[in-house]
Amino acid sequence: MSIHIGARVGDIADTVLMPGDPLRARYIAETFLEEAVCYTEVRGMYGYTGLYKGKRVSIQGSGMGIPSIGIYVNELINDFGVKRIMRIGSCGSLREEVKIRDIILGMSASTNSSLNDITFRGMTFAPTASYSLFAKAVKAAEALNLDFHAGNILSTDIFYNDDPEEWKIWSNHNVLAVEMEAAALYTLAAKKGIEALTILTVSDSLVTHEATSSEEREKTFTQMMKLALETAIY
Ligand code: ADE
Repeated sequence: MSIHIGARVGDIADTVLMPGDPLRARYIAETFLEEAVCYTEVRGMYGYTGLYKGKRVSIQGSGMGIPSIGIYVNELINDFGVKRIMRIGSCGSLREEVKIRDIILGMSASTNSSLNDITFRGMTFAPTASYSLFAKAVKAAEALNLDFHAGNILSTDIFYNDDPEEWKIWSNHNVLAVEMEAAALYTLAAKKGIEALTILTVSDSLVTHEATSSEEREKTFTQMMKLALETAIY
């Protein structure tokens, strides 16, 4: 096992879906996978491997924020040889045209985190999704008849931001939505040479101050999970 994942080598599939919430990982595995086996319960951050339409897929909780997803992504790649990671999660809209319940494919992830400051010595790295996974997700969305937005997203380090205006800077540069993990996933994927993508559903809006009910979140989350699973087997 690695420090934070209680699995043996071979327990985890080449393709891993990562919801932030470990209970979502359990729900997806129990609802959508056949022969699902839980390979880790360390810190309650569940991970499962099973079959989706005959293909081996793992679902691993990431926790919230860049440090948490960074730990799991590092270990998935370094200790378990994972080749493909798709984050699935929720986000807050930063743009008028991005409505509550919409789906977003994160092509790139800006950030207010200092994640890459030391590595790039003051220069700016652009964390980017893998074209191969992105193209598959587009095809899968079309096959499922799902509309989506695609573009730049913001991975913030600050959920409760005391600056009520900061989001407008990102919005003014066409950043579609805010979440908390994609920039770390894309940076690590680039460094380690694996494929990565983030698929999000909009749970709230910084523009209109609307928020989805838990029932609505459940329904939109199901569409996003199907999209991620179909992308995984494309
Ligand atoms: N995830 C869902 N909504 C969010 C928000 N408003 N900010 C950061 N992460 C989020």
